[in-house]
Amino acid sequence: MDVLIRATYKEMSKVAAQIIAEHVRARPDSVLGLATGSTPVGTYQELARMHREEGLDFSKVTTFNLDEYLGIGMDLTLSADEDQSYRRFMHEQLFKHINVPESRIHVPDGLVDPAMADEYCEWYEEKIAEVGGIDVQVLGIGGDGHWAFNEPGSSLESRTRIEPLTKDTIDDNYRAFYKNAGVKKSEMPHFAVTMGIGTILEFTHHALFIANGAGKAGVVAKALEGPVTSQVTASAIQLFDGTVTVVLDKGAASKLKNRAHYEHVERLKREGAC
Ligand code: F6R
Repeated sequence: MDVLIRATYKEMSKVAAQIIAEHVRARPDSVLGLATGSTPVGTYQELARMHREEGLDFSKVTTFNLDEYLGIGMDLTLSADEDQSYRRFMHEQLFKHINVPESRIHVPDGLVDPAMADEYCEWYEEKIAEVGGIDVQVLGIGGDGHWAFNEPGSSLESRTRIEPLTKDTIDDNYRAFYKNAGVKKSEMPHFAVTMGIGTILEFTHHALFIANGAGKAGVVAKALEGPVTSQVTASAIQLFDGTVTVVLDKGAASKLKNRAHYEHVERLKREGAC
């Protein structure tokens, strides 16, 4: 596991975007696993800039998002302010700024009939399997330690499914997104369709875990250096057998016990010593 610590959110975002861009340049038909939330916004802006200014080509790329709120979806009759779906978020933050074809974009369907959810979730995983898994998967971390919407207590072997959100997640996402859109808390979705931790572990070849801000420092330290536990589902980072890169700003890294070691290893790698 490489842990890269950068002074600012902007630098963290640049490093994360460079890692994704390297995959796309090396393999133009790369499969990207994407996350929503405030953390990857800077990364997506940098990818959009690389597309615009450096011609980074996404025309053969396929994308899969981790999750979506249940009960909403991109409704083209709604404005971006009214539609709080992750599908819309991805469209506004990334997809409309790059040349990834619509047919290659996959975001779980928030409007799936809950009675058909099991079949739908199996289908979503089959689509990922068909393209050979995810070359690089962007992962943020929730305040309660979740990955995607795998809330505390979700099995580390869990698969794609419908999951109720915890009060903490509802409060966080209300403050970050719904409040500004004038939506009442009682009216925001309380369930999500989410890839499971087992799904992420099985399909991801390169995990790109990003976090910023001192507010995340405690939960980042638990995930990277604490026990592997379903109470902090992001602690599954310790179970990957593929490539793992963690990119943090200094706030998010501020409670890591082994910080000096991570910085030492990065220096050695830069000098070609390991
Ligand atoms: C969303 C997702 C979530 C977020 C997490 C952090 O697709 O995977 O796990 O990464 O809730 O959200 P922010 O970045 O808003 O702090």
